[in-house]
Amino acid sequence: MNLLIMGLPGAGKGTQAAKIVEQFNIAHISTGDMFRAAIGNETGLGLLAKSFMDAGNLVPDDVTNGIVKERLAQEDIKTKGFLLDGYPRTIDQAHALDQNLADLGIALDGVINISIDPAKLQERLSGRIIHKVTGETFHKVFNPPAETYNEEDYYQREDDKPESVARRLEVNIAQGQPIIDHYRTQNLVHDIDGDQDIDLVFADIEKVLSGLK
Ligand code: AP5
Ligand code: MG
Repeated sequence: MNLLIMGLPGAGKGTQAAKIVEQFNIAHISTGDMFRAAIGNETGLGLLAKSFMDAGNLVPDDVTNGIVKERLAQEDIKTKGFLLDGYPRTIDQAHALDQNLADLGIALDGVINISIDPAKLQERLSGRIIHKVTGETFHKVFNPPAETYNEEDYYQREDDKPESVARRLEVNIAQGQPIIDHYRTQNLVHDIDGDQDIDLVFADIEKVLSGLK
């Protein structure tokens, strides 16, 4: 299966993506995770991406299109399929992806669109914690790692500070609608209510994907 998962920052893309790729054994391609890995490794890409990300802005399209193109050309994609998380994020990226997939002879099977009231996202992002070793994402209140846990084992994302979050929401709300419309005209979009418990959101996604297989 070749899928996209879309939704505003904090909608639950990464949380659901982890479950989807495990259940359906497909490759998870998260542009945000790729940029954060590059920042961690202090590569040129990381240095470039960091200034955009910390401010809550998008990394330039040519850079982002380039890393996705490279990843989609790898061998496992044709055999396993993929779930793209956080890409495309501009209409130009959507057009670049169309071209890229056409060149590779790959068709998209569906777009999972997690919808949620933007007013709920601030508390999701301010409470997000990520395990330093495994990279697994949790939430202090909504999805704590355990009843008692050591806060020092977890970190918070730089761009989860309130000023970055406000900018991320602004950018993503403005850019997102034309992309959804683009895929709606191709009858690929499956709307999922993101304002439910994590397991209930996943149950809804599973229903959709079982129908696509
Ligand atoms: P990216 O990493 O993609 O961030 P984002 O889109 O802002 O989304 P998030 O990862 O913050 O949220 P999510 O939807 O994955 O939510 P999560 O599951 O973690 O991008 C970061 C930056 O990289 C961008 O701002 C940009 O600079 C750059 N970038 C990336 N892609 C780019 C592109 N294509 N073009 C240009 N630049 C790009 O959940 C959030 C929290 O809520 C967690 O704590 C979780 O436990 C909790 N939670 C999840 N689901 C639920 C639920 N149902 N109920 C209660 N809590 C929940
Ligand atoms: Mg994410």
